[in-house]
Amino acid sequence: MVSRVIPVEPFDLVIFGGTGDLARRKILPGLFRRFCAGQMPADARIIGAARGDIGQQGYQDLIRSAINEFGAPSAESLEYLDAFIAQLHYVAVDICGDGGWDDLSKLIRKDLVNAYYFSVAPSLFGDIAARLNSWKIATSEARIVVEKPFGRDLQSAKALNNVLSQQFNESQIYRIDHYLGKETVQNLMAVRFGNLLFEPLWNAQYVDHIQITVAETVGVGGRGAYYDKSGAMRDMVQNHLMQLLCLIAMEPPSHFDPDAVRDEKLKVIRSLAPVAAHHVVRGQYDATTSTASYRTDAENLRSFTESYVAIKAHIENWRWAGVPFYLRTGKKLKARTSEIAIVFKKLPHSIFEKSADEKQNVLAIQLQPNEGMTLDVTIKEPGPGGMRLVHVPLDMTFADALGDHSEDTPDAYERLIMDVIRGDQTLFMRGDEVEAAWKWTDPIIEAWEARNDVPKLYDVGSAGPEDAMALIHRDGRRWREVK
Ligand code: BG6
Repeated sequence: MVSRVIPVEPFDLVIFGGTGDLARRKILPGLFRRFCAGQMPADARIIGAARGDIGQQGYQDLIRSAINEFGAPSAESLEYLDAFIAQLHYVAVDICGDGGWDDLSKLIRKDLVNAYYFSVAPSLFGDIAARLNSWKIATSEARIVVEKPFGRDLQSAKALNNVLSQQFNESQIYRIDHYLGKETVQNLMAVRFGNLLFEPLWNAQYVDHIQITVAETVGVGGRGAYYDKSGAMRDMVQNHLMQLLCLIAMEPPSHFDPDAVRDEKLKVIRSLAPVAAHHVVRGQYDATTSTASYRTDAENLRSFTESYVAIKAHIENWRWAGVPFYLRTGKKLKARTSEIAIVFKKLPHSIFEKSADEKQNVLAIQLQPNEGMTLDVTIKEPGPGGMRLVHVPLDMTFADALGDHSEDTPDAYERLIMDVIRGDQTLFMRGDEVEAAWKWTDPIIEAWEARNDVPKLYDVGSAGPEDAMALIHRDGRRWREVK
């Protein structure tokens, strides 16, 4: 296969929190894979910056073992490990003080692309941003990368935007939502805007409803302290599910260009109707004889935090008037699956047997695992016996359809970091998008807090709480199976 990888320009990438969990589990193993794929030029440098005085050798050893532990490197890729490790540098930096900044300033090559990944608590963003400028480290073209959680409500998100905008322009700020880096999430745009077929049907006239499901089998063990202050609404809905909703519901942008795409997504978020209390269900996973409850995992036996949310949302615009968007996400569910299902309306009139008009076409886009699409269609059952109809899926697994090409797919972090280096903000959230998302989510959370809402319990390994089933059954519809 001819490699389609185009190397990026030489760069200096500084990772604040360079010894932390995210750096070791995701960022550096991801960069290593890009290195093996030939996308990182030989004179690119990755500079870990953290508090400890571990030195360059200590850092290189740390990252070597992180790649072995978390990067699942193949025997073939390990041949490149020494060369990759040689591109790693380390500076001990006191984020809130003066130590190390001068060293960092001397190290950075100001004539190259330089990017600064803030893999630290948001409370430190302001300190880093201010010092990057006061020590004259960041160039006017420097890129700043920040992670979620971007605030915990509108007010704190505004404060973070404010802190960053005092030092950098919006065109320099890359807010990561790793869902946007997933291959199939980008495929949502390709499917919608690269085919004539779907667009004429993509509206209230033909779509009955849309389901967005992000189901996980993992619980919150290990990160209970963070999660218990957050819950599924802040951790998943405000960002990941909101982004999926935007890509499904947005108008076609005039170009595939960062601001044209983000303008259209923003319009979707701003068109979301406030959610009525009876259109939201919160859940919390309960213990079984062999698995712990959410409360035990989160080490808070009186916790009322939700590990599951289901919402019926509406977008108030011409395209989607009256079409419900059912969103759900939860932990410790039956299966790990992320799927978007566009359920089309019933036939206006069937010329066949009575039951045929009950069947609905469904376009299901499977985001993970087994990325692909299925389109449920009605056909004639083969053989004698008259015109008997069956509903079957036209199935396309992308790996089958794309053959060898599917193997060099970068994971979300790899792609997004390379986009930062290329200076492409399309797959990053703009400040106004994040604020608009909080503006919609805040009243839902405030209403729970005001009435001390107690989440409904659901069994580990189930599809979620009973009330979530009722949310959609009341409308005469059903959730798709979590499998
Ligand atoms: C993270 C959330 O942003 O996304 C986690 O904080 C969640 O709670 C994770 O498990 C899900 O990501 P993925 O890529 O595994 O679907």
